[in-house]
Amino acid sequence: MKAIQIVELTGPDSALALVEMPEPEPSHMLTPGEGVVIDVHAAGVSFPEVLQTRGEYQLKPPPPFVPGSEVAGVVRSAPQGAQVKAGDRVAAFCALGGFAETAVAPAFLTFALAPALDFAQGAGLILNYHTAYFSLVLRGRLKQGETVLIHGAAGGVGTAALQVAKGVGARTIAVVSTEAKQRVAEQAGADEVVRSDGPWKDQAKELSGGGVDVVLDPVGGDRFTDSLRSLREDGRLVVVGFTGGAIPEVKVNRLLLGNTEVVGAGWGAYVMGKPDLNREIGAAVGRMVDEGVVRPVVGERFPLARASEALKCIDERRATGKVVLDVRAD
Ligand SMILES: NC(=O)c1ccc[n+]([C@@H]2O[C@H](COP(=O)([O-])OP(=O)(O)OC[C@H]3O[C@@H](n4cnc5c(N)ncnc54)[C@H](OP(=O)(O)O)[C@@H]3O)[C@@H](O)[C@H]2O)c1
Repeated sequence: MKAIQIVELTGPDSALALVEMPEPEPSHMLTPGEGVVIDVHAAGVSFPEVLQTRGEYQLKPPPPFVPGSEVAGVVRSAPQGAQVKAGDRVAAFCALGGFAETAVAPAFLTFALAPALDFAQGAGLILNYHTAYFSLVLRGRLKQGETVLIHGAAGGVGTAALQVAKGVGARTIAVVSTEAKQRVAEQAGADEVVRSDGPWKDQAKELSGGGVDVVLDPVGGDRFTDSLRSLREDGRLVVVGFTGGAIPEVKVNRLLLGNTEVVGAGWGAYVMGKPDLNREIGAAVGRMVDEGVVRPVVGERFPLARASEALKCIDERRATGKVVLDVRAD
């Protein structure tokens, strides 16, 4: 099969090579001896793959290895007891190995793909939407009628969070850095959009009538203190990532004075050993797909051989929605 490998840890420009290699065995590291074998049609590209080209992500196998954490495609074979079977269209989280014509995923992280979604949308479904649901609902306790402020709202996690929040019945305020990203956030369903280079904290307080209930933060950096200030009493700031680079520090007296909380949300580490929780999150996201509120926003698409350009698009902050590699024609 054809696959993209990370062959050296020198960044997205030079780390990747297109190779011909044997197909994987039907076994996944999370379910040794078992796995769903998938003919990949589309592979999702995310921030962790950019970090992996520099050896900066927590999951760092020695090169050469095939990156790619999620795919959409058609099941070739599935272990007994799996909820999918040969021939089914699926979206799957494989952690590694997705940038290839054939990939293997654990059965508990493989989900039937609704007919309303194409393969490119399926490749943007699990990492971002499961993270958004986990972060907003399970960690941030977001409820119907509440208001949530979402940073990096035109990105993969951000657009997913806008839609999941809508599915919960919450009101959304998106924070973005450019006019083009403003349009993406609006198309993803944002109720309000504010600019990260403007007085977004004051705007958020005004738009929410005194402060938001939840902030979802995949960006970090120097916005953190203003994010805390934008919360109302009982508000929760959910920490999801640090695309801005710097890892913020909290002066905990602010939490005492405001009666607010900072909550960590690390989807992968939390859910990997919990098959039932994955099914629960998959069912909740599936209901939102059926209701029509979840529609993954697909941004730039590249053929497998141009994976390096896909990674650079994310690295250079140009990505909107989900960046996708087209592996097979639909
Ligand atoms: N905790 C978890 O379980 C979990 C799961 C999945 C992903 N993540 C993390 O969440 C973060 C977001 O992932 P994503 O896929 O949504 O990424 P993405 O599509 O690239 O979006 C990230 C957004 O961050 C903003 N940003 C601010 N400063 C930036 C900078 N210096 N470089 C790049 N972007 C910058 C950009 O929005 P503006 O330009 O509008 O500011 C961008 O749209 C990543 O750190 C990822 O590792 C965490």
